[in-house]
Amino acid sequence: MKIVILKNSDEVAAYGADIFVRFISKKPAAVLGLATGSTPVALYKQLISAYEQNRVSFKAVSTFNLDEYLGIAAEHPQSYRYFMNHQLFNHIDIDKQNTQVPQGDAEDPFAACERYESAIKKKGGIDIQLLGIGRNGHIGFNEPSSSLMSRTRVKTLTRATIDDNARFFSADEYQPHLSLTMGIGTILESKKVVLLATGESKADAVKAMVEGPLTASCPASALQMHQDAVVIVDDAAASKLLDVDFYKHIEMENRKLNERFDR
Ligand code: GLP
Repeated sequence: MKIVILKNSDEVAAYGADIFVRFISKKPAAVLGLATGSTPVALYKQLISAYEQNRVSFKAVSTFNLDEYLGIAAEHPQSYRYFMNHQLFNHIDIDKQNTQVPQGDAEDPFAACERYESAIKKKGGIDIQLLGIGRNGHIGFNEPSSSLMSRTRVKTLTRATIDDNARFFSADEYQPHLSLTMGIGTILESKKVVLLATGESKADAVKAMVEGPLTASCPASALQMHQDAVVIVDDAAASKLLDVDFYKHIEMENRKLNERFDR
């Protein structure tokens, strides 16, 4: 796991976006795994401005989103499909046919999950997966106790996640308690993983993910098993880590190595 600790959420977004821009420049037909939540919004803004400045094109890119609420349609303003269209896809040159989000209103959600897994495989797998993290350590909607081998499936949300996400729904609006989510096994198969976390409210989850034991109680700790996972956090989200200075030192050394070997 590579830990990058930066001053604030703007630096986190810029660092993360730069990884994506460079990746797509090298592989224009990259398969991206994308995430929702408030954390990736700033990164998406950076990608949009990179596109506007002709620094990147998404014409040949395909995307798969991590998750979707079960029981709401794509047009619903709280659906993750709607979020992706409005926060990113509508503002770049991506072909929407190449963007996939699990189908929240599928007649048979279980079959929809299987189709989603097959579609990812058919594309040759995800090249680079963006992740946020829930306060309880969830990734996608893989809540604590999720199997570390899990695949895309229907998942029940914890009370904590429902409460955390209630801010996006108005008081009289139906808030789903179920979701369709890529599994932890699905996420671990991505060739590269980039996880962003900002703010003090994520400090416990970041600590458990990076320095805690590998455990289904903190689904994000499964990333300790990934060969190419980059965790980008601000000082506040890093505030409970034991060895901040060491992680910063490693990052400085990595930067020097990258410059020296032009990586
Ligand atoms: C939701 C999403 C996750 C996201 C998490 C944290 O539950 N399913 O993918 O990482 O929220 O969101 P935020 O970035 O808003 O804290």
